[in-house]
Parts: sequence; C-alpha cells; structure tokens
Amino acid sequence: MTAYEIISKKRDGLSLTDDEIKFFINDFVTGDIPEYQMSAFLMAIYFQGMSSSEITALTQAYIHSGQVIDLSHISGKKVDKHSTGGVGDKVSIIIAPIVAAAGGCVPMISGRGLGHTGGTLDKLESIPGFKIDYDVETFIKKLANIGTCLIGQTSELAPADKKIYALRDVTATVPSVPLIAASIMSKKIAEGIDALVLDVKVGSGAFMPDKNSARELAKTLIRIGEDNGKTTIAYLTDMMHPLGKAVGNWLEIEECIECLKGKQTGPLMDLSHQLAGAMIYLAGRTNDIEQGIEISKNMVADGSAWKKFLEITESQEGDISYLEHPRKYPKAKYSKTFSATSTGWLDNIDALEVGLCSVQLGAGRQKVTDRIDPSAGIIFHVQRGEKVQKGAPVFSIYTNKENTLDIIFKRLEKAVHISATEMSTSPIILDYLDKNDLD
Ligand code: URA
Repeated sequence: MTAYEIISKKRDGLSLTDDEIKFFINDFVTGDIPEYQMSAFLMAIYFQGMSSSEITALTQAYIHSGQVIDLSHISGKKVDKHSTGGVGDKVSIIIAPIVAAAGGCVPMISGRGLGHTGGTLDKLESIPGFKIDYDVETFIKKLANIGTCLIGQTSELAPADKKIYALRDVTATVPSVPLIAASIMSKKIAEGIDALVLDVKVGSGAFMPDKNSARELAKTLIRIGEDNGKTTIAYLTDMMHPLGKAVGNWLEIEECIECLKGKQTGPLMDLSHQLAGAMIYLAGRTNDIEQGIEISKNMVADGSAWKKFLEITESQEGDISYLEHPRKYPKAKYSKTFSATSTGWLDNIDALEVGLCSVQLGAGRQKVTDRIDPSAGIIFHVQRGEKVQKGAPVFSIYTNKENTLDIIFKRLEKAVHISATEMSTSPIILDYLDKNDLD
C-alpha cells in the first residue's frame, strides 16, 4: 500500500478500505506521509466524498491517533457543545462558564480559525497568558476543580485532527461532510463526554450553504455520536449573517464579557441560552430543555457565569485584569468607521464576506505559519433588523496592516445593506434533530 495509490483510488471515486484509511492517517501523524500528499488526499475526499463506512473508519483513525480520556471518576454526566463553524460565533466561550456555573462538567476540546470562520482557541489565546495546551492529567485536574477546561487538540488528544485541521484551513478543503465529521467527532469522543450538543450552521457564512446539506451533516454527526455511545442532538442555526456584534479574536472576547455580564440581548444570547439549556438538560440537571434555559438565564443574571469565566481564565493562566478592565487591551493601530448614508433598517450583512475580510485584516490565517493579530477585526454598531439613522455608525474595522484598511473598508461597504423599509428578521434556530431523525 502506498500513499500515491490511495490518493489515486480516492481521486477516481473508488471506496477505500478501513486499513487504507488507517494507514494514511497514521503515517501522516508520524510524519511518514508529507503535507503535499495529505493535501492531495484531502482535495480528493472533498471532490469525491466518502461512504458512511469510510467516514466511520476515518473518524476511528482520527480518534485512535491519540488517547481517549476516561472521566468516569468525575461524578455526573459530562457534556459538551461544538459548532460546525461560523462568523462571529463565540458561543462556546459564553456557554462553557454558564453550564459549569450551573454544576455541569464540560470537557471542551476546541479548534482554531478554519477558512473564513473564527476559532475558539484563537479567541481565548487573545487573553494575555491564556493557555490551551495542557497535558491530559492537568486537563482532567482543572476540569474536576473548575467544572470546565477549554483546550486544543494536542499530541496526546486527537493529534490527527490537530495536524490535518491546520492544513485544511489553508487548502480550501474545509466544506466536506467526511472531513468535518471526523474532525469534530474525534475531538468530542477523545475528550470523554457522555452527551453532545451540536450547532450546525447554515448559510453563506457556514460550510453548509443550505438546510439540506446541513441536515445531511447533522445526521452524520449524530450517527457517529450515537454509534459511540454518546447522546447527540443537533440544532441547525442561521449563519447568513454574522453572530453578534464582533468578529475578530479579542473583539469577540470583549463581546463575551458583555454577554456574561448580562448586558447583551438578541440572537447571540438567544442561541447561547438554547444551547446551554440543552447541555444543562443532557447533564441530567433538569427535566427538560426549557428548565435548562431558565437556569442558563439565571446563571447570567445572578453573576455566577461571569464569576466562573474569571475562575476559568485564572485556572488557565490568563490575566483576568484584561477581562475586568478591557480598555487596557492594546488597540489596533488603524481603524475606520462606516456611517449610514440614509436612515433605514440594517437588513443584510453578508457573513462570508465579513469572514473573508476579517482574515485579511489579520484575524485569521492565510498560511499555516501566519500569526493571528488578536486586535484585528470588525465591530457592528447596529444588529440586523435594527433601525439606523443617517450619519450613525454602522461598522468599524480594526487592523495593524495600514494598506489593507481602505481595500477592506470598500469591500465591507458592499457587504452591508440598509433598507428603506422595516423587514421581519428570520429566527436564529432553524431546526432540531436527534437520533429519531436518523434514516
Ligand atoms: N469544527 C471542527 O472542529 N472541525 C471542522 O472541520 C469544522 C468545524
């Protein structure tokens, strides 16, 4: 068996055996297969897809590239949430503290930015000192003490995903059901959960552009979860527009601070409470999701979620003085604000274009070796559906790259639309699926 033969087989649309898939993944992790062959393999999968048994084999190869954590000595059900990726999606950073404050146990292996979408790890690392690369023993200790610990894939946990994820980010091979499924589910199964809430994003800013493809992805993820003994549910949620007001790493942490202090309402908080409520229910702490949502709201209202976020940050060596006094964070050198040229209602913000522009501003990577600029990104001063007066600010952009400022400003001007008439906004949650929806 050679890497060349396996790439050719997939390129020609043939099915791979479990052994061929295992060989390719294992030899890439050890360094015996180079990145250029893995890139070709990923592109072949992107174009040809994989059968359900190939996806199972791919996920197993990813999982067993590292350890699977046993958390049975920690009492209660362990529950996590994962999103398939969106623009301005900072929900994990809001709900991990909420659920931990409610007494849940949340082991969370997250990802970095992927393509035009942001990543939880890059956002957390924008907090000075915040560490996301603990060994398994330390991860378990922090989880048991605090109720949650947010880390990335490591050389011990889902190392195949760690290496392949970084390559997919820059080779345009992200929007593929088999590759997304193996990536997400390997991390979630390795971290030792009992139950999982999935946020499958739909729309221009997501990897699944329409409801049908998102349902297909959701079913694949649920099937893998349930086959591995994990209760798995999925919400399909809107990603036609960025989620919340901020896009970009530190800018999104500032928004999370507002959310955890109970100072924000709208789609981001509605979605956060729904997903946190579902986690609290799956953790066995309530009789239904509605009660879970009530608890989630209480955790924000009484300050417990904010306190827990500070506790998590301290536990993961972050400097909480920046969370307590966000204004002391260094600002990007260049900024520019777009103001409304007429009075109207903000009716469209193109999420894909916003995501691509934020990468150009420095908030994402274009090459594996690129460094993220934590202060770069975009702030929307008005949310979709809100009224804006002529001359009022609509969005501001922030960057340290002087020569991208005007180019990106012009692109973003075209990515927002203000309508002369008020329109109704679509719901953030579009659908719900669980094991009963599997064919
Ligand atoms: N999140 C992941 O962890 N992996 C993907 O491929 C997409 C979203």
